[in-house]
Amino acid sequence: MGEGLKHQASLIMSSENYQSGFANEFATEALEGTLPIGRNSPQQVAHGLYAEQLTGTAFTAPRSENRRSWLYRIRPAAMHGHFEPFLHSYFHNDFSAGPVTPEQLRWDPLPIGDAPVDFVDGLFTMAGNGSAEAQHGVGIHLYAANRSMQGRYFYDADGELLIVPQQGALRIATELGVLDVEPQQIAVIPRGIRFRVELLEGASRGYVCENFGALMRLPDLGPIGSNGLANPRDFETPVAAYEDSEGEFELIAKFQGHLWRADIGHSPLDVVGWHGNYAPYRYDLRRFNAIGSISFDHPDPSIFTVLTSPSDTPGTANLDFAIFPPRWLVAQDTFRPPWFHRNVASEFMGLVHGAYDAKAEGFAPGGASLHNCMSGHGPDAATFEKASRADLSRPDVIADTMAFMFETRAVIRPTRQAIESPHRQRDYQHCWAGLQKHFKPAT
Ligand SMILES: [Fe+2]
Repeated sequence: MGEGLKHQASLIMSSENYQSGFANEFATEALEGTLPIGRNSPQQVAHGLYAEQLTGTAFTAPRSENRRSWLYRIRPAAMHGHFEPFLHSYFHNDFSAGPVTPEQLRWDPLPIGDAPVDFVDGLFTMAGNGSAEAQHGVGIHLYAANRSMQGRYFYDADGELLIVPQQGALRIATELGVLDVEPQQIAVIPRGIRFRVELLEGASRGYVCENFGALMRLPDLGPIGSNGLANPRDFETPVAAYEDSEGEFELIAKFQGHLWRADIGHSPLDVVGWHGNYAPYRYDLRRFNAIGSISFDHPDPSIFTVLTSPSDTPGTANLDFAIFPPRWLVAQDTFRPPWFHRNVASEFMGLVHGAYDAKAEGFAPGGASLHNCMSGHGPDAATFEKASRADLSRPDVIADTMAFMFETRAVIRPTRQAIESPHRQRDYQHCWAGLQKHFKPAT
């Protein structure tokens, strides 16, 4: 467990031998005696703080779905200057430009330039579907940054943010505490929570999925049983940490697909204590318990789901976040890499580390691919030929890899800037051109 992070409700509100709260209800304070006991908004909060509720679901959402936190802070979130448009050409939710090509698409990593660019400046929208207004769908973005956010804070009212660093660790200072995330870890920042991103190792690059739909949660396990895949205790939520600083700062909001800015005279990261279940978290993808076949064939990639955002159709996700981690391949009489397929779902893939087992080359860490509804794809020619003749008498291991997929029920519409970008591989389709005709009707 990382310093400053915790897994379960703390002992703060407890008598000596008891913990407060049911599962997934956190309580944390940076100054002793901050959290009120037995009520959420007393007439006067300790230390002269303001009480503020932050809800992430409807007030009346069923208890199992309900997410909210109570924040005890130096100044309420209402205090800032007027919002005015903040121009950012590359970060948006405009997925409607023209017809969507059914062609398979792939991109090289987003270049990191020399001009100073922070996390917000460095966001580049690749694709998406649905809308923030309709509260379903996703926005899919890349980021490339070479400096920390300075005097600037950001929140996204349109969706929760799943941040997948590929190069360079990030420190994400949020209202509810500090998350350090490095490549092969992820962070999730809920809708509306204000934060600042600092670069801990110089230039950084990665992926962001902006989820407009229902909050992500762990998938049900069905016959797998009570353990496996991503285990709940490996998700880490920060303890309270606050900044008591004043100055000429900037608050940037993403609201209905556009960015806005307002002056703010203090750090909005001024929450001294909080309790509740609406909070940011991180997860280390290397802790994922991969499950697969020990006889023949291999399961659908849904077996690798880390987090899922359900839609209103049971079993049909608004968003599945799946990973392809290191694992052993033991299936017999089986084509071991991912097979050729066409799906009703649409798949945006990225590579955090190493190599992906369905492609011999061309899919680099930091790169991306998009295979939309019913567009055929699968291993490239070199991978097919190699795997078709592989010795299956022995297990094989994919030891050095971490690929992932944002899979959605709705077609993922690439943005015009992604289609026209110089880092798109115009020749991606050619990777299947070399597949040989092996058909021999006489045998
Ligand atoms: Fe696929």
